Amino acid sequence: MNILVTGATGFIGRHLVKRLLEARHSVRCLVRKASNINNLKNFRVDLYEGDLLQPKSLEGILEGIDLVYHLAGIVSSRQTSKFYIGNVIATKNLLEICKNSKIKNFIYVSSIAVYQPPSSKTLLDENSPCKPITPYGKTKLEAERLVLHYFHNYNLPIVIVRGSVVYGPFETEVVTKFFLNLIKKKKIFVIGDGDNFRSLSYIDNFIDGLLLVGEHLESIGRIYNLSDQKAYTLNEILETSSRIIGAKIKIVFLPNWLGNIFWLIYNILEKLFRIFSIELYSIKVLSMNLGCDVSKIANELGYSSQIDLKEGLRRTFEWIRDTYV
Ligand SMILES: NC(=O)c1ccc[n+]([C@@H]2O[C@H](COP(=O)([O-])OP(=O)(O)OC[C@H]3O[C@@H](n4cnc5c(N)ncnc54)[C@H](OP(=O)(O)O)[C@@H]3O)[C@@H](O)[C@H]2O)c1
Repeated sequence: MNILVTGATGFIGRHLVKRLLEARHSVRCLVRKASNINNLKNFRVDLYEGDLLQPKSLEGILEGIDLVYHLAGIVSSRQTSKFYIGNVIATKNLLEICKNSKIKNFIYVSSIAVYQPPSSKTLLDENSPCKPITPYGKTKLEAERLVLHYFHNYNLPIVIVRGSVVYGPFETEVVTKFFLNLIKKKKIFVIGDGDNFRSLSYIDNFIDGLLLVGEHLESIGRIYNLSDQKAYTLNEILETSSRIIGAKIKIVFLPNWLGNIFWLIYNILEKLFRIFSIELYSIKVLSMNLGCDVSKIANELGYSSQIDLKEGLRRTFEWIRDTYV
């Protein structure tokens, strides 16, 4: 198949491109003028220079393309406006190009950040209420609604995949910083008792799921959660990390009321000053229940995650040590 990948220079994109090439697909990658294309240099891919925020630059991008994986977006930024531009406007521009094309599938990689975090230890399934609490989640949901609009109004074949936090080699943002802190400080502050669900996707498992979605045309029009099959608790993630690092990680448990104060300050900064405080958000979100039910993709498409937490963390810590320590 001839496949277009947006966001190919990013963390998930680089892994996806590698696996698509291994499966003998032809891959076109959208790259920006300023993109760092080092990770794509050794691959036989067709580099298409353009920018999702400049619709004219996208005009020939779908020539000969059967399937689109749309990964490009803004995952982390201190300015809330960047999320809207990078996730909503960018997706709309791409959908406009796709609406009159002959593509057989448009796979939109969304996030479980679109859900309202449940107050109890229940798992999120595809029917759970969508009420995002962050600018990232809000703009991913808005982009999903656009994708569904093009499906209903223009018959654009689409699938939406809602991923949990993805980790693994070459992730350089939040998760790696979190693990690096564990390695260096061997100490972490946790609000609550750490018994909350925090689903994770090891990158290879996540790519397995994305490939399955691309292979099954019967999934058109559907929404799937994608994550490791087991929903881990925060304590489980920390204990497993501790064993792999080979040192005891000191967990300092903080009372919930302190978390509520952090959350209040976070919301004031976001609503009044349009600032996204990743620090306040990170400490609070760690205590939330974000456990993912993946039985729909497992039952309908045969997904099962092959790499367990221990092995995923072992590979990730090895990469972090080689790269940063
Ligand atoms: N990482 C996770 O834990 C996770 C979990 C669930 C869902 N997701 C979703 O998966 C997707 C990929 O995530 P990631 O972690 O791989 O992100 P990432 O590493 O930050 O990569 C983002 C990619 O988007 C590209 N991009 C951004 N704006 C663009 C534009 N205007 N035109 C063209 N390309 C643009 C970037 O290109 P440059 O190289 O030019 O900057 C980069 O390739 C995102 O949509 C994210 O919401 C991620």
